Amino acid sequence: MRITALVSLAAAVLAIADASPLKFSPKHGHAVPLTRNPNYKHNTQAQIRKMNVRYGNVRAVASNGTVPLVNVQHDIEYYGTVSVGTPAQNVKLDFDTGSSDIWFPSSSCTTTACKKHVRFNSASSSTFQKDGRKWKIGYGDGSTASGILGSDIVNVGGVSVRQTIGLATAESTSFGSSPEDGLFGLGFNTIESVAGVKTFLDNAIAANLLAQPVVSVFLPSYRLNGGVGGEYLFGGINTARYSGSLTYINVSQKGYWQIPMSDITYNGASLGQAAEGIVDTGTTLVIIGTAAAKAVHQKIAGSVFTPASGTQAAYWSVPCSLQSSTDNVGFKLGGTIFNVPVADVAFEDLGDGSGLCYSGIQGGQDDLWILGDVFIKNNYCVFDQGATARIGIAPAKY
Ligand SMILES: *[C@@H]1O[C@H](CO)[C@@H](O)[C@H](O)[C@H]1NC(C)=O
Ligand SMILES: *[C@@H]1O[C@H](CO)[C@@H](O)[C@H](O)[C@H]1NC(C)=O
Repeated sequence: MRITALVSLAAAVLAIADASPLKFSPKHGHAVPLTRNPNYKHNTQAQIRKMNVRYGNVRAVASNGTVPLVNVQHDIEYYGTVSVGTPAQNVKLDFDTGSSDIWFPSSSCTTTACKKHVRFNSASSSTFQKDGRKWKIGYGDGSTASGILGSDIVNVGGVSVRQTIGLATAESTSFGSSPEDGLFGLGFNTIESVAGVKTFLDNAIAANLLAQPVVSVFLPSYRLNGGVGGEYLFGGINTARYSGSLTYINVSQKGYWQIPMSDITYNGASLGQAAEGIVDTGTTLVIIGTAAAKAVHQKIAGSVFTPASGTQAAYWSVPCSLQSSTDNVGFKLGGTIFNVPVADVAFEDLGDGSGLCYSGIQGGQDDLWILGDVFIKNNYCVFDQGATARIGIAPAKY
């Protein structure tokens, strides 16, 4: 959903619908030798070896692809590099389970914000196909981008499909200061800003390119390991990145990755708070209801609530000294409590000499709660788009 600042949420997605049919690339075929050999002896292994020599770039089996991540400013956001077109043009994208569009600036965008980024030049890609439909998206932090749709080969960690992409010809000035060029939506296609567009996951799964219909996420914490080793793994689950076993929670509504949150705990004790929530890699903090945020901070000595004033939204802060706390706030999901250490609740120094830090858990989100990066860097997440859409979660292992 892309909330990187401490702002309250507005309605997220703007839709411009157009029902014209989409074109997809044919499924990658498996090459089969056609020449008959009268002395043929059945030898499947030899056939496969021969095929792999001749067609070294043909995938014999569905596989997986890893995208390494860059951690921006101590866990504010994370981006990875994606190749688009032929020859490949590399764009840096913020992978976002809270939205579903893939977009980046077009070379025809000449605004200051666009010029600070890689701008995709469709004319120099031999695989680019025009679509022409208009496209526009708005995010929870108030930022927007708009332009036209096209399609091209999108390669993520070696997994390649023909994909509808948004080429931005305008974007909010706030994107000008983003280190990434655009976004890579990992939500469901029901929240695509243009109705009927399939997501990258939809296309990769339909083409049988993924060994498992999942994308798994390890977002590293600056506090715990300097913020290195982050990855999105398409088609697999990295068992080295979590402890114990995954708890799976069925998605309650496909759009965002939405699940029931049955309780919040403090050092294991119930705070009696529940709501529907989304697991959102594109939001920096955990943002919950007003009353729930109050209940959490009442447990944290020295917490301060600052009411809204002017354009500044209300926010909670906590003593920065808690960065050495061993207490835990817990989120109960699928019957299991997943911790966010209070050390991470002391998120970022206010910088005013008060010794207070912005809290990593904020209120003001009274409908859908958001488990953002502060949660995900402590808990490995598997976004599973199989027959039953579900999220697998286990404590992250550093
Ligand atoms: C990813 O695929 C490779 C083969 O392409 C395989 O060796 C590896 O075990 C897979 N990793 C995961 C985590 O699925
Ligand atoms: C999750 O969905 C599957 C398939 O519909 C169902 O069998 C399972 O009982 C569900 N799990 C829970 C906890 O509701």
